[in-house]
Amino acid sequence: MKSQDSSKHSPKLEELTEPELDWEIQRRNRRKINRYYPDTGQLYRKHLSFFRASAQHRERLLMAGNRCGKTTAGAYEMTVHLTGQYPDWWEGRRFTTAIDAWAAGDTSKTVRDILQHELLGPTHARGTGMIPGDAIVRMTNARGVADAVDRVFVRHVSGGVSVLGFKSYSEGRKNFQGTAKHVIWFDEEPSIEVYTEALMRTMKVPGTDQGGMMIVTFTPLQGYTEVVTSFLEASDDNAPPPVASTQ
Ligand SMILES: Nc1ncnc2c1ncn2[C@@H]1O[C@H](COP(=O)(O)OP(=O)(O)O)[C@@H](O)[C@H]1O
Ligand SMILES: [Mg+2]
Repeated sequence: MKSQDSSKHSPKLEELTEPELDWEIQRRNRRKINRYYPDTGQLYRKHLSFFRASAQHRERLLMAGNRCGKTTAGAYEMTVHLTGQYPDWWEGRRFTTAIDAWAAGDTSKTVRDILQHELLGPTHARGTGMIPGDAIVRMTNARGVADAVDRVFVRHVSGGVSVLGFKSYSEGRKNFQGTAKHVIWFDEEPSIEVYTEALMRTMKVPGTDQGGMMIVTFTPLQGYTEVVTSFLEASDDNAPPPVASTQ
């Protein structure tokens, strides 16, 4: 990826003194996002078309097998919206102000172990996940589960502060009532009740007439559920094949 600051901030490692090298390694670990989706390769065509589709669609599902990069893609997209630091190649939707967002998964424990780990880094090294360490303003702890984070406040390029709250489906549909959200990311399949409740939060959001967006990433372990079929029925990929020319 063409990172905004890679040319400015990438000294030749062999020219650094040892303390400078330590600092540079730490700095790069806190800018993990720069290492994803390089614009040179064709490796991530599906992921990039998923990001691009956000320009047209408020609801998107990245449905794929295990280890295909679903969680990484969700964390990446969440991060660029939270920070407003869109890479040069970004063709998807852009928010111009700080956003209010949720990231959710099955249980508080899996949210902590997967989503928080991906976005914030491990407990002992917060700021080394997808959200750049220098953009994290502060975090609040969740109650009940050790080391779980409730909300993270993220510096947005506009000067505002975005807020990301962590949620879990196991707390039920009511847990998804609340104020408007610009972006909601579901990593793992939610029930149709939870999905619909969350979708309501994105209908009307401050700063835009278009409403917010749902990012959904999962492997369909439960087969043709209502959530899966609703996406498949609406999918562009499901359009009938073009009629063959008779000439
Ligand atoms: N764009 C990417 N660049 C480099 N590594 C990636 C990228 N996307 C995914 N990976 C790596 O592939 C592995 C699987 O990705 P993950 O997002 O956890 O898959 P899934 O959620 O589909 O099971 C992880 O180790 C992740 O770091
Ligand atoms: Mg995953």
